[in-house]
Amino acid sequence: MTTTEGLDEIESLVDVERIQRHIDAFAALTETDVEGDGVTRLAYTPLERRAHALFRDHMAGLGLQVRTDAAGNTMAESDGTSAASAHGTTSVAALGTGSHLDSVPSGGRFDGIAGVVASMEIAEIVSTTGLRHRRPWRFVAFAAEEGARFGQACNGSRMVAGLTSAIDAEQLFDASGISMGDAMRSVGLHPERIGADRWAPEDWSAFIELHIEQGVVLEDRQVNVGVVDAISGSTRLAIRVDGRASHTGGTPMHLRRDALVTASRCVLACDELARDPAHHGTRVTVGRLTVHPGSITTIPGRVDFTVDVRDIDSDRQRRTAEALIARFRSIADTARTEVSFELMGDTSPVVLPHWLVAEIGVAAADLGEMHQVLPSGASHDSQQIAHLLATGMIFVPSRDGLSHVPEEHTTAEQLAGGTRTLLRALRRLDGRP
Ligand code: GLV
Ligand code: MN
Ligand code: MN
Repeated sequence: MTTTEGLDEIESLVDVERIQRHIDAFAALTETDVEGDGVTRLAYTPLERRAHALFRDHMAGLGLQVRTDAAGNTMAESDGTSAASAHGTTSVAALGTGSHLDSVPSGGRFDGIAGVVASMEIAEIVSTTGLRHRRPWRFVAFAAEEGARFGQACNGSRMVAGLTSAIDAEQLFDASGISMGDAMRSVGLHPERIGADRWAPEDWSAFIELHIEQGVVLEDRQVNVGVVDAISGSTRLAIRVDGRASHTGGTPMHLRRDALVTASRCVLACDELARDPAHHGTRVTVGRLTVHPGSITTIPGRVDFTVDVRDIDSDRQRRTAEALIARFRSIADTARTEVSFELMGDTSPVVLPHWLVAEIGVAAADLGEMHQVLPSGASHDSQQIAHLLATGMIFVPSRDGLSHVPEEHTTAEQLAGGTRTLLRALRRLDGRP
């Protein structure tokens, strides 16, 4: 162990090649028998657990205390013992950093992983240099962040923030009808015990998540570090349209009740409403649509589709969802079809504390790094953690703004730049009273 006293630029130890190796190791953990390229490592699957094991083994190898909780979140702690004895105290509130290890189907190598790898890199520097810190530093890999499997996003972080219950886990289902509770049990987790693993706010001082931007702002401005000031909310609906299935040749056009024609008009209504200037900033997407019976020669009798409404303004987000349901009903009526819906997930936008945005900005400036303050269009675990304690986010650029696709890319140098800012921010926060 080397001492770092007097070493001001500890951030220069952030190692680009080590970061690349971690990214590659996680990317290798992907389903091989699914359609499409990229990484598929869905929430609460054995592969997601293998990614957590990789994180756990790395952190345990560095001598950190590691634990996986009932919700499947894995947390490693550097207790700051040397610092505690130096400062004569052992019970100060902790600092945290981390992100998630699951992916969407055919996703990229960086969404979530970037922040976990940054935390592994910082843990390695802390451990190998004996970097003094006054507060415990906790490195977290959250479980089941992506809503792609169960509709609701940020499940592991919701559980530690006390924003969801064991009962909710039994009421969320994936496309095969498996409940989140059953999925958790099948990989050795314990939905019934999540209440006991809630984080106590008084135990925490602040949390900072590093994540890829998943947009084009940083790339356009040629800035390597983003500081997030607000995170969009999302309302997700499962829509069902019922019409009447019948013969495509024998049924004249005026007698049809085609569920797909209704669904198509609903999809266009989503696009139109979100493009209306009154909804500036709202994003609406139909990302999944299933046609029944799915035969060339049968008029579609039923269509199921999802709607994802995202906004930084919570009132506009909910009003948009309500307006869309009203439009769908009127479209369905005109075509003598029926529409029904279920709420799959609903998350409010959050504004992150201004002082922490400023603190991260100063950390970047300390290192001579340009930064840009910006909102996040995507959801993040930080959104849930922000309900409990002061939470901030650092963004690194995404090539062409692409994410949730195999082409998602951030260079190891860009990840290292964000990691240096994160480390500096943690050091600054560690010194705050
Ligand atoms: C998480 O990636 C989200 O869907 O925003
Ligand atoms: Mn993510
Ligand atoms: Mn994602």
